Amino acid sequence: MPIPAQSSQLSSTETLYLSSLSLVCAAVLIRTFEGEGEPLVASLALSGIAFTASYAMIRWLGPTFIKAGLKGRDLSKANNSNYIPECMGGICAVVYLLIIIVFIPFPFYKDIVVATSGGGNRDVVKNLEFVQQGRLLHKFPHSKLASYLSAIISLQSITLLGIGDDLFDIRWRHKFFIPAFASLPLLVIYFIDFGVTSIVLPTFLQPYIGRELFDLGVLYYGYMSAFSIFSPNSINILAGINGIEVSQSIVIALLLAFNDALYLLTPYPHPATDSHLFSLYFLLPFLGVSFALLIHNWYPARVFCGDTYCYFAGMVFVVVSILGHFSKTLILLLVPQIFNFVYSTPQLFGLIPCPRHRLPHFNARTGLLEPSVTKWEQDKQPRPIIAKALRLLSQLGLLRLKEDEHGLIKETSNFTILNLWLVWRGPMREDRLAKEITAMQTALGLFGLFVRHKLALLIFREDNLNIRSAV
Ligand code: UD1
Ligand code: MG
Repeated sequence: MPIPAQSSQLSSTETLYLSSLSLVCAAVLIRTFEGEGEPLVASLALSGIAFTASYAMIRWLGPTFIKAGLKGRDLSKANNSNYIPECMGGICAVVYLLIIIVFIPFPFYKDIVVATSGGGNRDVVKNLEFVQQGRLLHKFPHSKLASYLSAIISLQSITLLGIGDDLFDIRWRHKFFIPAFASLPLLVIYFIDFGVTSIVLPTFLQPYIGRELFDLGVLYYGYMSAFSIFSPNSINILAGINGIEVSQSIVIALLLAFNDALYLLTPYPHPATDSHLFSLYFLLPFLGVSFALLIHNWYPARVFCGDTYCYFAGMVFVVVSILGHFSKTLILLLVPQIFNFVYSTPQLFGLIPCPRHRLPHFNARTGLLEPSVTKWEQDKQPRPIIAKALRLLSQLGLLRLKEDEHGLIKETSNFTILNLWLVWRGPMREDRLAKEITAMQTALGLFGLFVRHKLALLIFREDNLNIRSAV
């Protein structure tokens, strides 16, 4: 579908595809009402609608965003005098939140019927006083609804932070703790509803500690709020080439959805099925809006996703993993982000100067990306201990370091996984780098899930996929 880079109009083919998809999804949604309100099918249909709505709105609202000052220059293009819209993830987040709100009645359809029209039999007509006394409301799963609503509050809070950041470029020390506040509703629900703060000890440690479970108590809540700070920020700093913020998020969401599906496909009723279904209800529309954004943000980007998308994506993962009780599985899927964060710490914590942008350097002559660098002047050399560490990293192949003829450090590559990849693999085109990093994220994620379900048996007594329900 060739379209001019700046066009905010949908081509006729796009209009045809998008309207057909919307119609099919609307028809599927209406059919679920005729049946038993099958929530997974409804969620899929709504995710299709989320895709079409985001796709069309990203295109239509581009010029409006530019007019409002939400715009940026693509730093890795030869001709980058034109601005393109920034903060398009804001559209995705808003569409997503509306879709998730519209979805509320679906997972509770059967419970609403039971609670309001008499024992699940819709033919039984209860008289008015009886319904108003709400005697059957105790049958309604209020705790599940509370989880759902707390997830929405968290996601709305993080979207506010993201949009604020895209508008005002908030300093990182001011915005650092906001995700932890955003996660509070989740932690309260976790405390009331689940409250498990013990971790299973690996079998080889059990004889020494003398028990199978180790209770972390309040530390467990500290760990979860630290995680809610880490996840959104880690997506935001693995950024700077077209498509990478969105593609890494899509890979993580797909792998989480795959993991959820494993729990739905077990041949017996599984105790964790409900929490994994819950996770799918949040991931499917996320994938819908993200694919719409990726199409526009992939090389050569026509829009930027903005910090809103990165924070929002990171928080979706936190929400599903805390409320679905699988935050440790998520850690296995965030290995590249964890590596990038740890690797970045010298620059994040100011040991080494951190420029405003650390994205790879575009060489206009070759059209390829090269590692971007921090320059060291003769009179502003790193402290001896840091110089030693830099030389060691360079010897280990974890950094590119250039020295002058007197042995003084001239420049060091910036500490991001994207630059390191270019150090290892040599200069390459921007889309190639995005594809390679996405492939690496997928491979490591699949390996992570394999470790989770297969190798875990080496150090734990059982994998919870094999735990049969007592019912
Ligand atoms: C984070 C990174 C920063 C990186 C930036 C790129 C840290 C601490 N911060 O900052 O090093 O340079 O993301 O997103 O690691 N841009 C492009 N091409 C792209 C994506 C972005 O040129 O594919 C440029 C555009 O000018 C865009 C700007 O980056 O306007 C957006 O940067 P922003 O997301 O505000 O940067 P940070 O998240 O603060
Ligand atoms: Mg950013």
